[in-house]
Amino acid sequence: MAYYLGVDVGTSGVKSLLIDAEGSVAASAAEAYPSYTPKPLWSEQDPGDWWAAAVASVKKALAAAGADGKRVAGIGLSGQMHGLVLLDKGGKVLRRAILWNDQRTSEECAEITAVVGAKRLIASACNPALTGFTAPKILWVRKNEPDVYERARRMLLPKDYVRFRMTGEYATDVSDASGTLLLDVAKRQWSAELLEAMKIDRSLLPKTYESVEVTGRVSRRAAEELGLKAGTPVVAGGGDQAAGGIGAGVVRAGIVSVSLGTSGVVFAHSDEARTDPKGRLHTFCHAVPGKWHVMGVSLCSGGSLQWFRNALCSEETAVAERAGQDAYDLISLAASRAPAGCEGLMFLPYLTGERTPHADPFARGAFVGITPRTDKAYMARAVFEGVALSLLDSLEIIRSLNVPVGEIRLVGGGAKSAFWRQTLADVFGADIFSLRACEGPAFGAAILAATAAGRFKTVEEACSATVKTSWKDGPNAERAKLYAKLHPIWKGLYWSLKGDFEALTRAVE
Ligand code: XUL
Repeated sequence: MAYYLGVDVGTSGVKSLLIDAEGSVAASAAEAYPSYTPKPLWSEQDPGDWWAAAVASVKKALAAAGADGKRVAGIGLSGQMHGLVLLDKGGKVLRRAILWNDQRTSEECAEITAVVGAKRLIASACNPALTGFTAPKILWVRKNEPDVYERARRMLLPKDYVRFRMTGEYATDVSDASGTLLLDVAKRQWSAELLEAMKIDRSLLPKTYESVEVTGRVSRRAAEELGLKAGTPVVAGGGDQAAGGIGAGVVRAGIVSVSLGTSGVVFAHSDEARTDPKGRLHTFCHAVPGKWHVMGVSLCSGGSLQWFRNALCSEETAVAERAGQDAYDLISLAASRAPAGCEGLMFLPYLTGERTPHADPFARGAFVGITPRTDKAYMARAVFEGVALSLLDSLEIIRSLNVPVGEIRLVGGGAKSAFWRQTLADVFGADIFSLRACEGPAFGAAILAATAAGRFKTVEEACSATVKTSWKDGPNAERAKLYAKLHPIWKGLYWSLKGDFEALTRAVE
């Protein structure tokens, strides 16, 4: 029996997942690593940790499936997007990787916008310069760490560093490359114009492939470490969002996914490279060859609830621990008992700045509308509602670009929570579909490997064979009406506070 392996290099750890020839999940295993915040707004990881976690999780997954590594017939990679890995001429890592959620590059973004021009950036890169993207990070290193920059011969994205350790090849795929701000996203190739404008040498960049193309084969040394067969093909794979889109079956117009993890992503398939002239949405190549996707990214969705639990719910956490329960279940239960709309208490989930729709690294979280009746349950409910309202912002922009929104599928950690599903259905005023199995980007990456191996004719065929929806949660009409009334008021709060957020950050810098 042949297996296909998906390896997802995430922000909290690597997840390795094996599927069999039918596309059913045989086993998966995860291995965590730390992030570093050497300064406020900075976020870094050690690429060596990714490789170690990839090795450990692949071995664990093989053991859990009782599978012989020699039976793995193809590997697909996916990973956190935008991270900058710099290598010297011998392939050694020059500094810690600067991650997608690092916000240090607002000056470099302004420089890029000035040099290239805001309209030209949207025309070529299909996106504006955002602090999370890779090119501003390259400029930051050039300016602030010139000795590192001088020694840099290659730049790679996180999953592509793991590919390099697996195969010795410098390669990436067009979906992940879309998040660098150096790809001509409509043409699906590196943009000579953008490289020239930012004075970045083309030789720094890896070769690009479509997601189902084979980029190289597992080396003898890596095969020994991983417990796999030397020569196993490794396909290009995709950025975690595109690979997650495959895992959720978002491969034709009308299907939209909402992924609720630390960040929250509203992701829609598009047959063309449709851009938002205001740059609020991302337009990236899809992992489906010749297709694109648009997506809105909220940086701190599940992350807001995690903050709430950590900062304010030590009691619930202790009770849950004693009872062998999950603290989030207790928090959700309390939130479900507070009235919808929380009698006017609102929460802005901008704890780590925001991308869609504000592209504002200075934005902050806020509770607005506290009264003497406000208690912790109201605050918990306001967090759920604020996150859902921020995702509605993305959905509305997607609709305004005439990208069809038919079936909305919820994936990610939040999909397991009935209260998240109901809150999203009520706030969106739409049905929310759940998937029978929801394994995320690692599953999408394994599907890409199986398709490349000829197990399925196309990615679309692979998805119809393997991705099935299970149940749906529908909106409650009364609550949906209330949220439709509250959304414009909630939106206005950001604009009232915008200037103060930046002033606060500057005042304490
Ligand atoms: C996508 C993005 C995140 C990261 C980490 O643009 O920044 O989703 O890929 O998951």
